[in-house]
Amino acid sequence: MNRYIINGGKPLHGEVVIGGAKNAALGIIAGAILTDEPVTIENLPDVSDINVLLDAIRGIGATVERIDAHKAVICGKTINSVVVNSEVIQKIRASYYLLGALVGKKGKAQVAMPGGCEIGARPIDQHLKGLRALGVKCDENDAENCIYASVTNLHGSGIFLDVASVGATINIMLAAVLAKGTTTIENAAKEPHIVDVANFLNSMGARIKGAGTDVIRIFGVESLKGTEYTVIPDQIEAGTFMCAVAAAKGDVTLKNVIPRHLEAISSKLEEIGVTVTESEDGTEVRVVSDVNARLGASTVRTRVYPGFPTDMQPQITVVLMLGDGDSTVYETIFENRFRYVDELVKMGAEIKVKNNETAKIHGVEAVHGTHIDVPDLRAGAALTIAALAADGQTVMDWIDYIERGYEDFDGKLRGIGADIVKETVNDIEEA
Ligand code: EPZ
Repeated sequence: MNRYIINGGKPLHGEVVIGGAKNAALGIIAGAILTDEPVTIENLPDVSDINVLLDAIRGIGATVERIDAHKAVICGKTINSVVVNSEVIQKIRASYYLLGALVGKKGKAQVAMPGGCEIGARPIDQHLKGLRALGVKCDENDAENCIYASVTNLHGSGIFLDVASVGATINIMLAAVLAKGTTTIENAAKEPHIVDVANFLNSMGARIKGAGTDVIRIFGVESLKGTEYTVIPDQIEAGTFMCAVAAAKGDVTLKNVIPRHLEAISSKLEEIGVTVTESEDGTEVRVVSDVNARLGASTVRTRVYPGFPTDMQPQITVVLMLGDGDSTVYETIFENRFRYVDELVKMGAEIKVKNNETAKIHGVEAVHGTHIDVPDLRAGAALTIAALAADGQTVMDWIDYIERGYEDFDGKLRGIGADIVKETVNDIEEA
């Protein structure tokens, strides 16, 4: 287990370079195996979820050459197995993308049931509904905790998603690009990573239109070719640093961002008194939170893009916990995303969660360092922000969750003046 020790109360100053989007890169890595030609991916984040997926495709025979921490060349020509069923892959959500990609490439797949953060029930019925519409036979095997999929005639179809699921939209795109005929996904997810995966697949020769809108059309092609592609900047990593500056105060410029992807976050922060300015060339945002002024209160509802992202809900709650007045945060996407609130209450926050859906926040002037545990990835980022803004020292256990999705989080925070160190706690001490 790893832990952070954070001495809070230090305003943040300087520059942070934002990495590639984890959730786009996961779809892109799965898509890369659809061709037999080499695919070069740049701006890959060096985080554990990505490394697990790269290991998983190695495990089915793909070659993965890691040129450096952020660049890999993947070749799917050597894939010799359709069985993705290891202890490791069950830890990540994106294992399900190998279902869509392998049925597209090989006509069959056996993939372990997806894992990932425990933030709700997270069913995959919409993935399976979409794949079945394309002619794929999908059987869930509870005893083996995996899904068997096979298809003899992968064909285009019309699919209306009951929920605008990010994962289902990407999975269906992955399977449909090599299907015969046209696939239409209605009520498709519109997140920036959907557009990025579609752009990537199109750069391989796929014909996907409408990504970023409610209706995506995929015109199946015979085969795909190799490409070189750069992953978009991570909207959530950028948003997390914006909230860190808002709560801990200071003046920080975030480099390598797409400000348009950050609008829901920027406008909420501006509403409560943070200054957010976009650079003229549209690749940076500067975030200023006055050390002498208390932020205001607000209401936040998580929504699918372009609404306020559920992956930023814990971070904005931490900002509002220190605001002047009463705020409300509604989580509308996942059923179990307030588990971190108990830890904030230990630090002195006044937050009550109702029905796991609504957090009623009474802003406090200060919170105080203590010993806390990280329950999941984004919650871990939010608790780190709370510790940076707190008086005194916070010891945060189980920060391994954070490393699933943030590259060198502590190093980047130290670079802007945070007093944070990472420690590895050995098993004997843990026991
Ligand atoms: C993706 O998860 C992201 N993960 C999540 O990021 C993110 O929180 C989420 O999208 C929403 O933006 C990856 O990209 C790997 P969904 P995903 O399918 O695809 C319901 C992070 O912190 N649903 O859009 O699993 C579901 O229960 C992670 O980086 C169904 O009912 O999310 C949820 O209520 C956490 N049936 C809603 O839809 C389905 O078949 C949205 O889920 C699929 C989903």
